[in-house]
Amino acid sequence: MKLNQNYANLQESYLFLTIAKKVAAYTEAHPDNHIIRMGIGDVTQPLVPAVIEAMHKATDEMAHKETFHGYSPDQGYDFLREAIQGYYAKRGVALKLSEIFVGDGAKSDVGNIVDIFADDNTVLIPDPVYPVYVDTNVMSGRKVIYLDANEQNGFLGMPDENVKADIIYLCSPNNPTGAVYNRAQLKAWVDYALKNNAVILFDAAYESFITHDDLPHSIFEIEGAKKCAIEFCSFSKTAGFTGVRCGYTVICDELVSDGTKVNTLWARRQATKFNGVNYITQRAAEAVFTDEGQQQVKDVINYYRANAKVMVDAFKEMGVWFTGGENSPYIWHKVPDGMTSWEFFDYLLNEAEVVGTPGSGFGKNGEGFFRLTAFGTLEKTQEAMERLKKLLKK
Ligand code: MLT
Repeated sequence: MKLNQNYANLQESYLFLTIAKKVAAYTEAHPDNHIIRMGIGDVTQPLVPAVIEAMHKATDEMAHKETFHGYSPDQGYDFLREAIQGYYAKRGVALKLSEIFVGDGAKSDVGNIVDIFADDNTVLIPDPVYPVYVDTNVMSGRKVIYLDANEQNGFLGMPDENVKADIIYLCSPNNPTGAVYNRAQLKAWVDYALKNNAVILFDAAYESFITHDDLPHSIFEIEGAKKCAIEFCSFSKTAGFTGVRCGYTVICDELVSDGTKVNTLWARRQATKFNGVNYITQRAAEAVFTDEGQQQVKDVINYYRANAKVMVDAFKEMGVWFTGGENSPYIWHKVPDGMTSWEFFDYLLNEAEVVGTPGSGFGKNGEGFFRLTAFGTLEKTQEAMERLKKLLKK
């Protein structure tokens, strides 16, 4: 038996696991701690009433043989895909049901999509960005090149005609920086992809945090994108499904490589390796798209937005450079001079018992930065900002 040697090229531990281990060690050494967790972007507000009601109803259905459900259809139940289709239609994007794949979250689909692409593709990944894109390509031994995102370009890397990439990852609103591509910028990426016969893997997990009406929520709002993009979306951040698990991936029929529809390969991959999302969860996800559900999830997003505002105000008061917090649930700020991101992580944990995510965990350009999430409770967010002010105010 031989192991996949590519794993030796990964960081020893997945970013959020490293943080969890450090926090566990701290709590063991300080049992009376008052830690506030602003590291992993995990939600704290309960599922909304419309979702809970749908889950109860679906659970009752599962208790009777007349209404019991076994395996889900491969790509998800029509009722959920129709609801997703309706959501896109409101943005002027027409999708066929067969172009929508229900899955157990954006992380799984973003990670698994690499199965359908040849190993000798060149992959372009923004730096800094969600670490799953890099790790999954390192696992399969692909050549990864990086797209520098930094303060100078507003953390929004743009295409370079001299760089040849086959697979391009874009995350907008960006995790971790909160930067959002506008229509013209996304159009430039679509044009590049069409010209270079490349595919854009577009992670829209944070689209519901966009506040500015003119910013695109979906890459399919851009002309030509159906021919060159795959979109991943999730109910985790939109509707608090981090522990429930449900998301969707959209691959349009127009996306074709060497005469083969990419949609067909993903359908084949999913049918072989994935057995669908359970009925109760799909009914819960469907409820997110009802008028009532939409209003309720908006209220929760506004709650997190209010947390982000508390953070924005605190960072302004501290005079610390930051971005994000506007179209995103993350604040991305500079660490004090002379410290690395991980040193600041330890400093914050030890001196203020606040946990965040070191920017360098998202790539080399993240060094010197730090990410804090707005997914906590208002009380804890306020308390954390008071502690930070004591520590950092100039
Ligand atoms: C994050 O903190 O970046 C996210 O919660 C991770 C994820 O969505 O998997």
